[in-house]
Amino acid sequence: MFAAALLAAALSSLQPAGWDRDLKLAEAVDLNPDPHIVEINLDARVAHVEIAPGIGADAWTYDGGIPGPLIRVHVGDRLIVHFTNHLPQPTTVHWHGVRVPIQMDGVPDVSQPAVPTGGTFTYDFVVPDAGLYWYHPHVMSAAQVGFGLYGALLVEDPDEQVGVADETVLVLSDIGIDEHGKLEPPDSGGSTGMAFGREGNYQLVNGRLRPRLAVRSGAPQRWRIVNAARSRFFQLDLDGQTITRIGGDGGLIEHPLALQTLVLAPGERADVILAPRGAPGSEFSVVSFLFNRGYGSTEFRMADSLFTLAFDEAPAYAGPPLPVTHRVIQAISTVGATAVNIDFTLVQRADHNFEYGINGVPFATGHPVTAMPGETQVWTITNKTKWSHPFHLHGFFVQVLDENGQPVHPLEWKDTVNVPLEQTVRLVVRYDDRAGSWMFHCHILDHADGGLMGMVDVGVSPVDHSEHAH
Ligand code: C2O
Ligand code: CU
Repeated sequence: MFAAALLAAALSSLQPAGWDRDLKLAEAVDLNPDPHIVEINLDARVAHVEIAPGIGADAWTYDGGIPGPLIRVHVGDRLIVHFTNHLPQPTTVHWHGVRVPIQMDGVPDVSQPAVPTGGTFTYDFVVPDAGLYWYHPHVMSAAQVGFGLYGALLVEDPDEQVGVADETVLVLSDIGIDEHGKLEPPDSGGSTGMAFGREGNYQLVNGRLRPRLAVRSGAPQRWRIVNAARSRFFQLDLDGQTITRIGGDGGLIEHPLALQTLVLAPGERADVILAPRGAPGSEFSVVSFLFNRGYGSTEFRMADSLFTLAFDEAPAYAGPPLPVTHRVIQAISTVGATAVNIDFTLVQRADHNFEYGINGVPFATGHPVTAMPGETQVWTITNKTKWSHPFHLHGFFVQVLDENGQPVHPLEWKDTVNVPLEQTVRLVVRYDDRAGSWMFHCHILDHADGGLMGMVDVGVSPVDHSEHAH
């Protein structure tokens, strides 16, 4: 009784009323009365969006907004999405990080035919793991994501107690809009633009330019963050105030990590708790520091304010310390694992255009990695290029190993892992029985389209994937 009362007290809001109104995401409407089924409509269409008063463009959107609607489900729920494509181009929806059956993975010609203009497709799968995931197209990904097609999928576990009532989902991205309100062409800068990875000129938080969050000094809040940018890394900094990371791509991590800055590569997620402090009535900028992801990423550029924390007039909150989250995660055993060695490469072809590849071969001509259901593989990925590449594997979580092949703590389930320029990263993955051809690629989507992409055939006889467009 007493414990329950304490818990209830701990879980009432500590923030000013409407604290996240300025950046709150629209939510998808569940049309199904069954408490274990979330059934929604999702419509991709061109729509005029404003990122700030007077700044906008005809963007590519899900349901008319950037980002698309937040989809909220409980772990174990069945999610049914009636998708319609009203874009001028074929598209698909990929459920980034979710362990779906291959038929629901959204890869054109592997999982499904691309959905043509005016066409529909129903995605229907069970959501097996709690955490923050996201959805985006897998056709012309760099262009379509760059134009605004992305949204968050929050899979909640009602039994998960982190002791913080105030929670908000932050979709970080960017968009290129010129002074006439036109979207930046997807091929701007040609092959050099591709080699770098195109970044938009406006950084967005939930589709807004520098929105504000009304907060009470010292009061804890939980941010569920996804980096949905096509190429940009974010490096969040609150003037050195502690950011406690409790979760990552695939839900809670083994134990919390106290950070000064939080780096998110494209595709990555973080679950963090903060209790920012500031003088009542003052304002504070959350800045994204430039992150060195390779040549051209920090030179002659300025760090930008992402959003503003506006402290209300209430005196600083002083509450009891928060519970420390723990999650038991089993390290995947590497005993008997198959070794897979991959190099990320960049060459300049005879026509002077740049071309990324896996082991020197671009996706279109590459051979798949093969695996059996139940097999464990240790991937050693060496980045031989001058730019960092966030490696993303579809369908399965990986764990990161250190240079001696030992698990890195805190243990966590990842689907997107940055491979820094000219460095090597080791990962372990255990496939289950979801047979199929699963993609892996750099989540700088220009790099993926530029060749940095491959396939893992799990339990299927090798086939020629060369016709499969991204
Ligand atoms: Cu979020 Cu194939 O990617
Ligand atoms: Cu890359």
